[in-house]
Amino acid sequence: MLTKASQNRPGRKESIKYGIIQGFFPCLWNIAHAVALWYTRILVYRRQAILENGTRSYQIFSLTAPSITELWTLIPSVISSINILTPVYGPLDRKTEIEPENPHDSQLERIKGKIKFQNVKFNYPPRPEGTVLNNLSLQIEPGTKVALVGPSGGAKSSVLAILLMFYVPLQGRVLIDDKNIKEYLV
Ligand SMILES: Nc1ncnc2c1ncn2[C@@H]1O[C@H](COP(=O)(O)OP(=O)(O)OP(=O)(O)O)[C@@H](O)[C@H]1O
Ligand SMILES: [Mg+2]
Repeated sequence: MLTKASQNRPGRKESIKYGIIQGFFPCLWNIAHAVALWYTRILVYRRQAILENGTRSYQIFSLTAPSITELWTLIPSVISSINILTPVYGPLDRKTEIEPENPHDSQLERIKGKIKFQNVKFNYPPRPEGTVLNNLSLQIEPGTKVALVGPSGGAKSSVLAILLMFYVPLQGRVLIDDKNIKEYLV
């Protein structure tokens, strides 16, 4: 049974709107048929058209008109596609701060693997108010294994995401072999 809350859901409004449009246009189509047949009969009755031409015109109308009226039934799908796609353009249009091809770094060097986070401050772009890393400093020597331990949401994955250059820290630096990761050719 539907509760009062579920009856007021936006989906219900959308369904009613969709139903009205889906019902209205076939109805309009049938009315147009009736008018076309009625007018053909009048023209033939007044001897302004012969039956053959009247029938031919009606057939042309009945073949072309559905293609036009069916276009209108697509309107709800087009509107919902636009609504779904519009928010996608925000992140796509955002200019990345990560320069993937640093023009100054032409030499390919062998990385030893010393990792250094220096006073890294970070928050995710969609949530500027929630600080994820606040002055994180750590150093990992080459060839060593280090585990990041902490509660869920404690920012373990975020540390890796920054190291992999998926995001840029707000403040501080990340170094690999004492060189800022921004200067590597990725
Ligand atoms: N893409 C994102 N956009 C906005 N906030 C994010 C994003 N990814 C993570 N966060 C937030 O950043 C904080 C740190 O998340 P993170 O995934 O780094 O934690 P975690 O320690 O890896 O957690 P878990 O142990 O559950 O994997 C959390 O508050 C999380 O909600
Ligand atoms: Mg994680």
